[in-house]
Amino acid sequence: MEIFKTQKELRNYLEKPRAEHKKIALVPTMGALHEGHLSLIQQAQQRADIVVCSIFVNPTQFNDPKDLEKYPRPIEQDIDLLQKQGCDVLFLPTVEEMYPDPEEQWHIDLGRLDQIWEGAQRPGHFQGVTQIVYKLFTLVNPNIACFGQKDFQQVMVIQRLIEIKTLNIQLVICPIIRSEEGLALSSRNTRLSEQGKKKALILYRTLSAVKQAFQENIALDKIQQLAENMIAAERDVDLEYFAISETRTLERADSIEPGKQYVAHIVAWIEGVRLIDNMLLND
Ligand code: PAJ
Repeated sequence: MEIFKTQKELRNYLEKPRAEHKKIALVPTMGALHEGHLSLIQQAQQRADIVVCSIFVNPTQFNDPKDLEKYPRPIEQDIDLLQKQGCDVLFLPTVEEMYPDPEEQWHIDLGRLDQIWEGAQRPGHFQGVTQIVYKLFTLVNPNIACFGQKDFQQVMVIQRLIEIKTLNIQLVICPIIRSEEGLALSSRNTRLSEQGKKKALILYRTLSAVKQAFQENIALDKIQQLAENMIAAERDVDLEYFAISETRTLERADSIEPGKQYVAHIVAWIEGVRLIDNMLLND
């Protein structure tokens, strides 16, 4: 696997495959890699000739400096995992490399996506995400980019970025990878104790119960209550929000319309760790 730390080196390296019309896939990550990230690399490998993975803990998307500071950075282990997975290129820049001008301004109109759910709870988060992803897109100029359904709203934000900047990039949305018991894999899980990980299973249990209730045509306000009660019954788990939304707009649904897709999404805090999960409700 080739490892590049500067944009220049990566750009030079990609010139040849691009001239040969090889398909290039990009998998952006912040490292602390797990099976979820590796599944994205696999999906990329199935669709492209060259897979570029980036690892960069992007400071502009953290609204909590402590969260940024505490973000795990096991780089040797990550390199090992990517090598074993057969990834072709790792891009591993420094903050100075990606943000030579610390005062750099960025704004993109994400409409309601910047105002609801993650947009509301984490002001500036999606501006930071789009700022770095746009830099990576213009640098790598990939044919394909793989993102996880785990961060549902993020996928919609990236789709919006691609549309606004009229980029010729195919967005591949990859399914959520979970532990055997159902916990959605996340780099943040490493900050949970064993007991915390057990408690965290309530997110999956709640989403599964919600899906079942949805498919039994139970009224949405009853399902909302069911979800809130399930979380409230688990000690030391604090619900930030739970909602059922139509997948296209992410607005809270107040009725179910035939032909539309719905998603249940949840954010909860356990042991000071913010956990996010979701589940598609139709199928
Ligand atoms: P990070 O949290 O490292 O996630 C990188 C990618 O892995 C994202 O597309 C995320 O949705 C996906 N992912 C994480 N856990 C997953 C799981 N359990 N199953 C499937 N996919 C999973 O998301 C980011 O980094 C950053 O915001 C980034 C896009 C890299 C911009 O900085």
